[in-house]
Amino acid sequence: ADALRVALAGLGTVGGGVVKLLDANRELITRRAGRPIEVVAVSARDRTKDRGIDLSRFQWIDDTSALAQQADVDVVVELIGGSDGPALTLARATLAKGRHIVTANKAMLAHHGLELAQAAEAAGAALKFEAAVAGGIPVIKGLREGAAANEIGRVYGILNGTCNFILSKMEAEGRDFAEVLAEAQALGFAEADPTFDIDGIDAAHKLSILASLAFGTQPAFEHVAATGIRHVLGADIAEAAALGYRVRLVGLAEAGKAGLFQRVHPHLVPIDHPLAHVTGSTNAVVAEGNFVGRLLLQGAGAGEGPTASAVVADLIDIARGEYGPPFAMPAASLVAAEVADAGER
Ligand code: NDP
Ligand code: HSE
Repeated sequence: ADALRVALAGLGTVGGGVVKLLDANRELITRRAGRPIEVVAVSARDRTKDRGIDLSRFQWIDDTSALAQQADVDVVVELIGGSDGPALTLARATLAKGRHIVTANKAMLAHHGLELAQAAEAAGAALKFEAAVAGGIPVIKGLREGAAANEIGRVYGILNGTCNFILSKMEAEGRDFAEVLAEAQALGFAEADPTFDIDGIDAAHKLSILASLAFGTQPAFEHVAATGIRHVLGADIAEAAALGYRVRLVGLAEAGKAGLFQRVHPHLVPIDHPLAHVTGSTNAVVAEGNFVGRLLLQGAGAGEGPTASAVVADLIDIARGEYGPPFAMPAASLVAAEVADAGER
């Protein structure tokens, strides 16, 4: 069968991981997808950077947005990042051209998800984003497909690997916040601007996507209240431990009578709760459905390998022709959420 031809925008932690994964598991992926998945063109900022991967076999395109227009491309994979700017320009151009797009960019989806979903549906193209929430955990598939028949009461979890890595190192090793953040950055977990991680914004981006999938609402970042871990001290963590709790950055979305409540903040999690045992860059998501009951999805929430795994899973779906409305129901059916605040919950 004809190969699925991929243009790759962004060759950093995740983009580099996608090239490595497609190389390492080539045969298996071809058999699972029913046809080869071939990268044909790539783009990033700096052509001369040594990325530890052989890029000479791909066509290098200087102007990233031109990937959308490139002849013989079926799908563009956007791994640049940023809610607007070159990522959004590329996503819009790709869908306007009627081509599929795969992205790990939760910031772009939290701000422009509805517009992009409408464009994808109008074009009959796929917009897929498994990597955008909780790295390698198939949480988008879990809500969008696995739990599709359920009314979801609430969805919550640990959605930021960098913060969880920092909190668990502070807790286990009594380490200093800044030193552990530098380690998370070196490991490729943090966003280009790590204040997005530390201030709960990245988790809020992800929560707005999960809420849309769970409750059929239009993704709307501005409806998520977010407080990060910047002010959590070692002494707070020690005091919580003495009382039988651990500090975790938790995002929670809940449908109540007053509307949809969406909030990210440091939480005191009782030691006997599964989220208290999620350590390092691991993420965990709990969803409560009226027929399936309580689902707990846990795994690597950030980093090269797990995130690339989710991106390539989306490519395999597209190669098989398996995709539907990006946010679990047609964009026209997504409703603007009534927003509840904490007092009304
Ligand atoms: P990196 O910073 O490692 O890589 C970004 C890539 O984009 C680089 O190759 C960079 O080029 C390229 N780039 C940046 N600006 C431009 C531009 N203006 N034009 C063209 N190319 C540009 O980021 P990550 O790989 O970590 O993240 C990529 C996306 O994946 C983001 O949306 C992020 O939120 C998301 N994500 C990341 C995860 C992770 O664990 N790292 C997990 C889940 C999602 P150059 O290399 O030449 O500088
Ligand atoms: N910066 C993000 C995190 C990457 O730390 O969770 C994964 O989305």
